[in-house]
Amino acid sequence: MTDTALLNEAARVLKLVQTGTPADAALRETLGRTRHGSAPALRRAVSRAVFAYFRWWRWLEPKQSLQKQAAAALDLQARFDRAPGSFKAEALAARAVPDWLKTEMDVAPDWLRQLQREPVLWLRAKQNEAANLPALLGDCAPAPSSQLSTLNSQLSAFRYSGPRDLFLTDEFRDGRFEIQDLASQLVGHACAPQPGQTWWDACAGEGGKTLHLSDLMQNKGLLWASDRSVRRLDHLKKRAARAGMFNYRTAPWDGSAKLPTKTKFDGVLVDAPCSGVGTWQRNPHARWTTQPADVRELAAVQQRLLDHVASSLKSGGRLVYSVCTLTRAETTDVADAFAAAHPEFEPVPVFPGAQPSAPGSQLFLQPHELNANGMFLATWKKK
Ligand SMILES: C[S@@+](CC[C@H](N)C(=O)[O-])C[C@H]1O[C@@H](n2cnc3c(N)ncnc32)[C@H](O)[C@@H]1O
Repeated sequence: MTDTALLNEAARVLKLVQTGTPADAALRETLGRTRHGSAPALRRAVSRAVFAYFRWWRWLEPKQSLQKQAAAALDLQARFDRAPGSFKAEALAARAVPDWLKTEMDVAPDWLRQLQREPVLWLRAKQNEAANLPALLGDCAPAPSSQLSTLNSQLSAFRYSGPRDLFLTDEFRDGRFEIQDLASQLVGHACAPQPGQTWWDACAGEGGKTLHLSDLMQNKGLLWASDRSVRRLDHLKKRAARAGMFNYRTAPWDGSAKLPTKTKFDGVLVDAPCSGVGTWQRNPHARWTTQPADVRELAAVQQRLLDHVASSLKSGGRLVYSVCTLTRAETTDVADAFAAAHPEFEPVPVFPGAQPSAPGSQLFLQPHELNANGMFLATWKKK
């Protein structure tokens, strides 16, 4: 493909974004993901250009054509990749993120640098496939051991750096692995469900974490998956069928005080809706669409979700709160308010059975430390 053809395709996607479509949806709509859609290499190249545009948006000249701006963004990306130090921390703070962010969180220079890198792709092999998958797929490297040392033997996370469209591989169709960010995988390990237990994934969405919990439970016991979106739960069922996951049932739940079941659980995961600041490296368009009002509104939703699930835990049951964001209002503020309102819960270490040096009951997973999404986790046990 010529540069001109690539930039024309990128401009087509960007025009659609300008009508209000999120960048990832615009890419899917324009390029397709079917056998008849564009070739994987073209999809990848156009996605790179579109995401570079939003990553470097405040460096671009808005009067230029979208093609010229996309080309300038790719040049900036190349310059940054060659010499990240040549971009001053102050310039990154002023241009890589919206101005309102500094009132909501500490904006660290290392995090800003990480935001301007292209994200890496993480896979989660099913536990019994972890030994074979790297050889089958090729181009796989295990997660770095440094700060995860207490968990490393349990992780089946691999960083994929090859050229294949993984959704089209036999290994994916056979359910041997999922594409799942490393930070999301760590949420499953914070839950640490045991085979035979009963868990509730209260904001299951399309089931990214449900599938992981089921695998950790060796498909034994029962996993309730709920979400307010029935469409997402339908998608979860398709993914479950591919992954060979059977120990689950779905139930719509809108987050209200009326719970979907009277069951008392060994564990509940609230992977709550959030502003998604932790995903801004992977999804740079969201930097410019997310608003401070979203942060406040979502913090209130998170608080309500936690309050409502609290009664569904058995005595001794484990409650895990996770969000892929880093704002104070949606992380420590929510966790502290829950702890204050629920003395029947005691904080417990985020990773059960971890070494004494391991984190406490609240943990930020930082993108620049993990080379992955940012997440916040808080964990309690019901007394
Ligand atoms: C962060 S996403 C969950 C992602 C999912 N756990 C995964 O790993 O793929 C949050 C989910 O909460 C759901 N949600 C939003 N508001 C809700 C509410 N008030 N009650 C229940 N679910 C809600 C959304 O539909 C969304 O699927």
